[in-house]
Amino acid sequence: MKGLFSRKPIAALVAETESTALKRSLGAGDLIMLAIGAVIGAGIFGSIGSAAAGQVDAAGHVVRVGAGPALVLSFLLLGAVCALAGLCYAELASMIPQAGSAYAYTYATLGEVVAWIIGWDLILEYAVGNVAVAISWGDYFKSLTGDWLPLPIWLTTGYRTALLSSDPGVHGLINSAPHIAGIPILINVPAFFIVGLITILLLSGVRESARANNIMVAVKLIVLAIFLVMGSQHINTANYHPFAPNGWTGIHQGAAIVFFAYIGFDAISTAAEETKNPQRNLPIGILGGLAICTLIYVVIGAVLTGMVPSASLGTEADPLAFALKATGLTSISKIVALGAVFSMAAVLLVFQYGQPRIFYAMARDGLLPRWAAKVHPRTHIPHVTTIITGVFVATWALIGDANETYDLTNIGTLFAFMLVCLGVLALRYIEPDRKRPFRVPFVWPVAVVGAGACVYVMLGLPHQAWTRFTWWLVIGVVLYIAYGYRNSTLRSGEKQRG
Ligand code: ALA
Repeated sequence: MKGLFSRKPIAALVAETESTALKRSLGAGDLIMLAIGAVIGAGIFGSIGSAAAGQVDAAGHVVRVGAGPALVLSFLLLGAVCALAGLCYAELASMIPQAGSAYAYTYATLGEVVAWIIGWDLILEYAVGNVAVAISWGDYFKSLTGDWLPLPIWLTTGYRTALLSSDPGVHGLINSAPHIAGIPILINVPAFFIVGLITILLLSGVRESARANNIMVAVKLIVLAIFLVMGSQHINTANYHPFAPNGWTGIHQGAAIVFFAYIGFDAISTAAEETKNPQRNLPIGILGGLAICTLIYVVIGAVLTGMVPSASLGTEADPLAFALKATGLTSISKIVALGAVFSMAAVLLVFQYGQPRIFYAMARDGLLPRWAAKVHPRTHIPHVTTIITGVFVATWALIGDANETYDLTNIGTLFAFMLVCLGVLALRYIEPDRKRPFRVPFVWPVAVVGAGACVYVMLGLPHQAWTRFTWWLVIGVVLYIAYGYRNSTLRSGEKQRG
């Protein structure tokens, strides 16, 4: 029983990173760009619509109520929650600069079984999150190319989206799409394609990918600026009334889905082993990126909900482009759709980059099979897990639905954030004297309120997300007992010594 909670000594973690096969090539600027690359994406381009308008399922049941223009309050609430968690991430990331993010931190603080759960849980944030981003990418791709590349709708709509949609036209595809052996063929080819492309880019090496990311980040900032400048000239103040149509419940439930827009500032901690001077650069990257993104979201939320009635955003998969079209700015909507396509490609890149490195860290510890820790001799990247992640994400994106994937990703990520907050406290108690290049100020209130706030946001998600998340954890525990428990490097070392 004691072995379950074995903690990996931090000194061993740091030594491992010194002998790492990965290459240290990223600076603070690269990290801020990686953070923005990860953060601004499907959350602001896609999930913002359901957050503002609410969501109803195919049978007419309310899945969530919308925030309306009070969505700006949802963003502020989330900015505060993420700042608390971000501070905790920064302390752990600067102390334990290792690939593997919250997984590695938990191993050092709360012990092996919790670390395994977190590693398993992070698949929801990284790989499953990317499924949602790929689907939203497909929606904007459709809005961009629909006129000159008219793909049949059954090739651009996943089966789950048709099944769950309250729009009779989309739901009806279940019957009207071509069938093979009685099964409707409803697949999202663009979403599948983009994941394949990103995987190939990553396989060509980290430095090239960071450079490509920098270009994509510049494009996304320019395009959002265009949306703000043009959109703000078409605000109808009548759209701001009522400001909060569903009161605090709407703000809370809106926050729970649009939290997706904040996911990613933590992802850069998975690049710790490839960062120069991580003790200084990681906190700058995490907190700097978060501050910039919060500001952008609040302004975009205010402009969007001023342009069109919030309720009209519910069934739109591409809400920013929709609002521009609705106010007569059709050609600008194309430019924004183009920017969205670039932005979300940047997000996909960061998460497809992060997931294999978490698998890499887990395999190095023996919690996953050894072959998952293979690094390519020439490109220095964990190529086996990069390919596995690509296949998993692309296949799910082919048939999945964005909203249900946002929910599952959010609940998993908030859970990881909560454990990181608790981990900081645990480590202050267990190893009070260890050098902390970055210290959370007022650690007790920050970590306790941070953990509590994460749980509070989780409570705004539909109960279906809770059920699925519970199942996900149960499967994870079974796998740990069947494999990780027997093969853990740390515990087999302890057994030999004992
Ligand atoms: N925050 C990222 C996005 O919105 C995951 O796409």
